[in-house]
Amino acid sequence: MRDAMSIIEIDPGGFVVEAELGETVLAAMRRHGIAPRSGCRRGGCSLCKADVVSGTVTHEVGAAATALTAEEVADGVCLPCRAHALTDCKIRLRGPARRIFTATPPRTATPA
Ligand code: FES
Repeated sequence: MRDAMSIIEIDPGGFVVEAELGETVLAAMRRHGIAPRSGCRRGGCSLCKADVVSGTVTHEVGAAATALTAEEVADGVCLPCRAHALTDCKIRLRGPARRIFTATPPRTATPA
């Protein structure tokens, strides 16, 4: 895990959020008032699946093999509900997760 806060850019929306130490990507988004559609939040359903466009994330607490395969991880896919940023990064949400609900306006998040 990174020893400093990470900056995460979210596609769609171009929101930029700060992830605190030990905070998952999804938790950081939600703390900033950005709530993509998600399901179990435990790495089991794959509803939050996203592409890591740039930067590096890790899944320190495992995701279910049915939700995220080793091949997907190798291809730069992550589960934001389990992923922790190791660097500043850009995440592109997939499928249903692209439907983002936001507080009005998002708390401290910055649209690009
Ligand atoms: S919300 Fe279920 S795997 Fe992320």
